[in-house]
Amino acid sequence: PQAKAYRAALLHCLADPREVGIERSHEYFEDGLLVVADGKVAQIGPAAELLPTLAAGTEVVEYPNALITPGFVDTHIHYPQTGMIASYGEQLLDWLDTYTFPTERAFADKAHAGEVAEVFLNELLRNGTTTALVFGSVHKESVDAFFEACEKRNLRMIAGKVLMDRNAPDYLTDTAETGYADSKELIERWHGKGRLHYAVTPRFAPTSTPEQLALAGQLFKEYPNLYMHTHLSENRKEIEWVRALFPERKGYLDVYDHHGLIGARSVFAHGVHLCDEECQRLGETGSAVAFCPTSNLFLGSGLFDLEKVEGFGVRVGLGTDVGAGTSFSQLQSLNEAYKVMQLQGKKLDPFKSLYLATLGGARALYLDDRIGNLQPGKDADFVVLDYQATPLIDYRLRQARPLEEKLFALTILGDDRAVKETFAAGESVHRKG
Ligand code: GUN
Ligand code: FE
Repeated sequence: PQAKAYRAALLHCLADPREVGIERSHEYFEDGLLVVADGKVAQIGPAAELLPTLAAGTEVVEYPNALITPGFVDTHIHYPQTGMIASYGEQLLDWLDTYTFPTERAFADKAHAGEVAEVFLNELLRNGTTTALVFGSVHKESVDAFFEACEKRNLRMIAGKVLMDRNAPDYLTDTAETGYADSKELIERWHGKGRLHYAVTPRFAPTSTPEQLALAGQLFKEYPNLYMHTHLSENRKEIEWVRALFPERKGYLDVYDHHGLIGARSVFAHGVHLCDEECQRLGETGSAVAFCPTSNLFLGSGLFDLEKVEGFGVRVGLGTDVGAGTSFSQLQSLNEAYKVMQLQGKKLDPFKSLYLATLGGARALYLDDRIGNLQPGKDADFVVLDYQATPLIDYRLRQARPLEEKLFALTILGDDRAVKETFAAGESVHRKG
């Protein structure tokens, strides 16, 4: 198979800066070469060293004034909510009733679902996101349409059908039994096919009966490497509601715990208001939390305490949570994440930011053997970031001396305009026009 090489500045994370210090957390080649073959990374290193070793005739694509990083990982997003991003005026529970449920109703129609899936994937790739953990709607057709669209582009994606058998409009509910059976059918069809993975997806505790949660827990254990994806402790009124609905449980997380829904490959969106005991339990079970800064600010949910949650050994990834999130761009998520930390008197250094958007997300999803950085053998999912994306970014980066200044400015000022090209499994899947 023909190898292809990409020459640019190259940056990727090797570890969490929190664990090994900033210096040892990443690898940077000012004039680097990324060699790709068979959809995987074959080699990475300094161009001067690798260029002479390439087989004669190997094509070398050069990107001056650009930085190659791993593709971004979005650990929580809703594809049916693409068309309702930026809906005015409500906090979580009213926002669901007013905007979300009516929007998701249309996904009973597979043709509509397919059209939205295309818009959604175009948007993810325009923003440099190559892997995401994705909510469908309650309709199994929504997940078929989504996975069919992903398969055509050979993307590594995780998704699932929403389980919701109470406290939602009739047109949008399943039952404990149909939810289980439909999920099972989708798992058999899609889980492990190419680069696709299935996630058992109860919407959140208030919209499932204990019977549905129990069957979801059963399903989660029936197949290897299945995911569990839901929401947790996002909003104060939501938490009170869960207490009222499940008075016999110790708290919100305990509802999921009791039904066998926590552990490796369980991903909980938000976790804004977790107590120490809940963080402890998430950490010791290998569960993950998706930090969704643009959403938590937009819905007025609260400020996520990254240091506290990570302090308990919890895996944390970054999520956009579109349509409550306000951007598909993980660079914009990092812009807001920085401010969420500032409001708590804390810092978010740019290498930690890069980690959250790439390797940290891959670890939260237990996919760091496949994605998250550009070590040889990993999927060749990467982005080319443009140092001259806008006149202001160009001007600001010219003043920036060390790499960390450039990287920080990109995470604050960057968005889809900063993504020059996106590659999935070694193929170009988006190029800025
Ligand atoms: N909690 C339950 N459903 C949702 C949803 O669709 N978005 C967000 N942000 N939180 C939720
Ligand atoms: Fe969400």
